[in-house]
Amino acid sequence: MRLTETADVWWKNAVVYCLDIETFFDTDGDGRGDIRGLSQRIDHLAELGVTCLWLMPFYPTPDRDDGYDITDFYGVDSRLGTHGHLVELITLAQDRGIRVIADLVVNHTSDQHPWFQSARASRESPYRDWYVWRDEPPADAAEGIVFPDQETSLWQYDEQAGQYYLHQFYKQQPDLDIANPQVREEIIRIIGFWLQLGLSGFRVDAVPFLLDTKGAQDAGALPDPHDYLRDLRAFLNRRNGHALLLGEVNLPYQDTRKFFGDEDGDELTMCFDFIGMQKLYLSLARSDPAELVKALNERPVPPEEAQWGTFVRNHDELTLDKLTEQEKQEVFDAFGPDQDMQLYGRGLRRRLPPMLGNDPARIKMVYSLLFSLPGTPVLFYGEEIGMGENLSVDGRNAVRTPMQWTSGVNGGFSAADPDNLFRPMVEGELSPEYVNVADQRRDPDSLFSWIKLLVQRYRESPELSWGTCTILATEAPSVFAHRSDCEGGTVIALHNFADEPAEVTIAVAGAAAGLRVADLLSGAVTEVGTDGTFRHRVEGYGCCWLRVLRPGDRYLV
Ligand code: NOJ
Repeated sequence: MRLTETADVWWKNAVVYCLDIETFFDTDGDGRGDIRGLSQRIDHLAELGVTCLWLMPFYPTPDRDDGYDITDFYGVDSRLGTHGHLVELITLAQDRGIRVIADLVVNHTSDQHPWFQSARASRESPYRDWYVWRDEPPADAAEGIVFPDQETSLWQYDEQAGQYYLHQFYKQQPDLDIANPQVREEIIRIIGFWLQLGLSGFRVDAVPFLLDTKGAQDAGALPDPHDYLRDLRAFLNRRNGHALLLGEVNLPYQDTRKFFGDEDGDELTMCFDFIGMQKLYLSLARSDPAELVKALNERPVPPEEAQWGTFVRNHDELTLDKLTEQEKQEVFDAFGPDQDMQLYGRGLRRRLPPMLGNDPARIKMVYSLLFSLPGTPVLFYGEEIGMGENLSVDGRNAVRTPMQWTSGVNGGFSAADPDNLFRPMVEGELSPEYVNVADQRRDPDSLFSWIKLLVQRYRESPELSWGTCTILATEAPSVFAHRSDCEGGTVIALHNFADEPAEVTIAVAGAAAGLRVADLLSGAVTEVGTDGTFRHRVEGYGCCWLRVLRPGDRYLV
């Protein structure tokens, strides 16, 4: 077993859990979660088996983009707590073997940031060149708008400045100019600051936009932006050899691969697999894993110590931007046919369970896939209990409703008057009355118990995190079969994308005697024939993780 590597290169088999402090647990009754609340509930994460906590932005913010618009990169929003509370949280998490990372949002600042306030006020400001200005917007000003429902251009005229500034996202988020060496240095200083306070790395927001210097006036004179990413990584690991950069790069596979750096992986430690995620939904919509298989076959193998970050849902809309129009329509038809479930016509503002009609078997099958496919699984809070969305909440915030702890008032999230919650709870059949942590932790058949089991088996099976993955052909088109091998160990996983049971024949080896396979999830053991094959029935939306037992093996199953 690669024990040394698993400890040093901890992200290879981590379980990452993303949350927003303000929607997790409120201790002071103001209707908004706080850092102390998260500290009080840290054992929930420990019980689930989380090893890395990713904090969404907790910095001071006017909240035009749910905290992704920052006014002080060194601060903690006073509504959430203090630096002291944060250090306490990091210590509590570390005591439980949980590393803490946070969003690093340095493509842009808030327009309320003192740097921008100074920059717009005068051409002589030392911060003027920290942003990207033009007298006239370029001809392609409307190309590549991320929020087309809100914005019509990437360039905004500022009265005070007398010029246009670049904003890849909302107009309240002016882009910083990383072509400016002072900006590059400041970003490094920010990283150093938070590492010193105890963070183990960062989820880097909007990486391709951050590195894009197209707005800079003298582009020819600029260093290669990837050199800068390499510098960031080198600095990070000089300060803390165990820290990571988990990057948001939603590009075609070959372009994303570049962000891992050279073959030793000297840029991002991990990149999210946006393509695999989108193809998973297409496959689910078709009850046929073929598109997922195609994506996995096309997915570049990351450098040995790097890793893909795999996920089913995150805090943003379920983006479908890499599917064709027709494929996207198939996913809309299957999982979000109503207008108000869709966002900008390019994604869905929904969580998984309601998209799958709250079918427990199908939901469990999808999480089994998440934990058995190669890549480090990243969960979004509430997924472990099958929370839904609240479509009456605006935009992407529909999936960012408060955590559901109990069946009581406000789902046990806050003692505030329900009208004073800063964001409303989920209503209807997935409301706290029916979906909550307290009930599920005592129910062996709950989604929470299932995900706990998946986490435990995944952590015990280095084949899944370190192994070589091979996709197996089967005679049943609805069954996705893959095997992962690592240093003599083999796990074969089967997932049925359709609601009808299917039977498959799996070849474990050539002619062999005395082989068996044991299902790591149910414990069932099947004999392998002397020809090295076995037949297996997979229920509709069923799944299993079969460890191959060779004579003399001493695995604990
Ligand atoms: C990506 C984040 O995930 C999203 O929530 C945010 O709006 C943009 N970056 C801008 O920071």
